[in-house]
Amino acid sequence: MGLKTGRGGDVPPFRVMDVIAAANAHAARLGPHDPRVIRMEVGQPALGAPAGAVRAAATALTQGQPLGYTEAFGIPSLRRRIARHYGDWYGIDLPADRVAVTTGASGAFPLAFLAAFDHGDRIALAAPYYPPYVNILTALGMQPVILETDAGTRFQPTVGMLERLDPLPDGLIIASPCNPAGTMLHRDELAGLARWCHGHGVRLVSDEIYHGLQYDSPITTAAAFTPSAIVVNSFSKYFSMTGWRIGWMVLPADLCRPAERLAQNMAISAPHIAQVAAEAAFDCTEELEARRAGYRRSRDLLLDALPRAGFDRLSAAEGAFYLYADIAARGESSPDFCARMLRELSIAATPGVDFDARHGEAFIRFSYCGGEAEMAEAADRLLRW
Ligand SMILES: Cc1ncc(COP(=O)(O)O)c(C=O)c1O
Repeated sequence: MGLKTGRGGDVPPFRVMDVIAAANAHAARLGPHDPRVIRMEVGQPALGAPAGAVRAAATALTQGQPLGYTEAFGIPSLRRRIARHYGDWYGIDLPADRVAVTTGASGAFPLAFLAAFDHGDRIALAAPYYPPYVNILTALGMQPVILETDAGTRFQPTVGMLERLDPLPDGLIIASPCNPAGTMLHRDELAGLARWCHGHGVRLVSDEIYHGLQYDSPITTAAAFTPSAIVVNSFSKYFSMTGWRIGWMVLPADLCRPAERLAQNMAISAPHIAQVAAEAAFDCTEELEARRAGYRRSRDLLLDALPRAGFDRLSAAEGAFYLYADIAARGESSPDFCARMLRELSIAATPGVDFDARHGEAFIRFSYCGGEAEMAEAADRLLRW
């Protein structure tokens, strides 16, 4: 007798994880004299948590601090510190009771989507996108509505695209700087989208996980323009704390209690030790800014080298640590191209099919958050290829 399985189990894989596995397998096959695999497929900073964060965690452990459940939305001092960060970075006054600490941005998405949307609701987002947005929405019975974009709008959505939707969507997800394109919504564009959403009853979810990693223009938060947006952020990228699984949300007042009830039931709390470390990470500015400067140098080097190596159709590399290259003219699908580049050059990159079901065969994503020397070596290999 066949047993029932749930709709959530049909969720597609997060394919970059398969690419990572292929790069690992390739590395294992290499001999001692072969060039090492350069990992440009992962969006994980090469360096771990900043020293002050590690020290704070070590002290909590060695001094026998009882690490237990915390309040569902996090330890009060961390929530206050995050609220202060909005004053420091964006000049806005944010009450700490609108801050919810989560297990990474990943842990925030189901809470945000379930608090804000219903089964069957339509949520718009631009392609190419971070795949879990679509996969989580689908697993929850919500409907992603894909907005087709191209380099003309820097792969970002516009108010015009939303106005053409009939009926209007229930929600909109944006990301700036975004993954995979590394492009940003500039201040007026973000303000326009935020105000349009607020005025039309469309719940905005703004993924700001790459804030801090902008290289050309200043950054603004959606929370500065609308009281109704959900802002998602994390300690994984600028703060380099991927494995600590710690992030946060800024919630609109009407969603604080619903999201808190969900958090109490779904996670109880984010890991206590990670919360202690995260609070200390806010005081590691010098170390984190040095890392940002390193990413910028890698970006500049690759922006110079990649066009000379034949990758001359690159997205505007304004932030995060990604370059999205249009390889349509090469006449090879992106999965085949990436497999060949790994085989022949020992450089791993991610095919665009993960980010864009329709056009992804024509794009690949290079991640440049590895060590600077490795990124320079990658540029050399690509130039000689
Ligand atoms: C755009 C975007 N949002 C969210 C995440 C999830 O990050 P985390 O769960 O580590 O905070 C990632 C990870 O790469 C990402 O690129």
